[in-house]
Amino acid sequence: MKKILVIGATGQIGSELTMKLRSIYGHDNVVAGYIVGAEPKGELLATGPAEICDVTNGQALADIVQKHHIDAIFNLAALLSVVAERKPQLAWKIGIDGLWNVLEVAREHDCAVLTPSSIACFGPETPRDNVPQDTIQRPRTIYGVTKVTTELLSDYYFNKYGVDTRSVRFPGLISYVTPPGGGTTDYAVDIYYAAARGEKFVCPIAEGTFMDMMYMPDALNALVQLMEADPTRLVHRNSFNIAAMSFDPKGIYEAIRRQRPNFEMTYQVDALKQSIADSWPNSLDDTAARQEWDWQPRYDLEAMTTDMLSKLALKMHA
Ligand SMILES: NC(=O)c1ccc[n+]([C@@H]2O[C@H](COP(=O)([O-])OP(=O)(O)OC[C@H]3O[C@@H](n4cnc5c(N)ncnc54)[C@H](O)[C@@H]3O)[C@@H](O)[C@H]2O)c1
Repeated sequence: MKKILVIGATGQIGSELTMKLRSIYGHDNVVAGYIVGAEPKGELLATGPAEICDVTNGQALADIVQKHHIDAIFNLAALLSVVAERKPQLAWKIGIDGLWNVLEVAREHDCAVLTPSSIACFGPETPRDNVPQDTIQRPRTIYGVTKVTTELLSDYYFNKYGVDTRSVRFPGLISYVTPPGGGTTDYAVDIYYAAARGEKFVCPIAEGTFMDMMYMPDALNALVQLMEADPTRLVHRNSFNIAAMSFDPKGIYEAIRRQRPNFEMTYQVDALKQSIADSWPNSLDDTAARQEWDWQPRYDLEAMTTDMLSKLALKMHA
């Protein structure tokens, strides 16, 4: 990776990934791609190049890749699970028609491509615990349908055209820089904001609903590490299970209470979010990622809670 394009650079992952890539590969070598209405601000805008980059416009995408001599693309454009369920056709247009444009440009200009998948690529027929790398993938959500298609189309471009596609199945990501974009696991971010503000949290997900989660620094390391991995070691490509922790609302509440004893939580279950969460697995087996590119997370629930609460306290008093 020498010249990198991040598509969706102002989102929850993109805003932090772009800065991390700039710190590793040089500020001028990482282009922040954004859409009108989601413009970069602050250090994201100040530290490097930025271009309007809508995945549904294949020609504009090709022009950016040519202009900046791009050799690696992180394609983060998507509608997340809850938003996608309300706008299924748009979710497909961005997630799949957009991906097709990205892969075609990558084929023509010899770029590596990483498009994240998700725990949403699994469904009710998938084993619930320790989901194997290769297993049943019959999701019920449109978000999940786009993620399975993303995996298949990315592998197709690798097998048929040799495009260097790689991907991870992200769990719910927890971070303090940019708010999440409307996913089922957003509650695990919102709960920390409530605790940091000293407010009571009303949880939209029922007690006992376990989902895989990960702290953003581990997620960013996974993306860089996988893109830098020796291709001869990769048996799988699209997409690797990766895991760091699995908890239910009570588990994260208790972790916060150990550090903020006055924190309180009640439940008001959101039917859509709960039905999506119920169709996802409890935990994933990430042995393949550990074996093929040395994946290893650093943060567990306790370490993440300590860091989140201290970073949010700094952010709120800045
Ligand atoms: N955040 C999570 O917990 C999580 C978990 C699993 C998988 N993922 C995946 O990671 C990727 C990034 O997720 P995120 O959390 O940063 O999402 P986000 O919603 O915060 O960001 C998505 C970005 O895509 C951009 N976008 C929307 N339409 C676009 C278009 N037509 N062309 C170009 N860009 C467009 C948005 O402006 C935004 O910057 C997605 O593929 C998502 O499915 C995220």
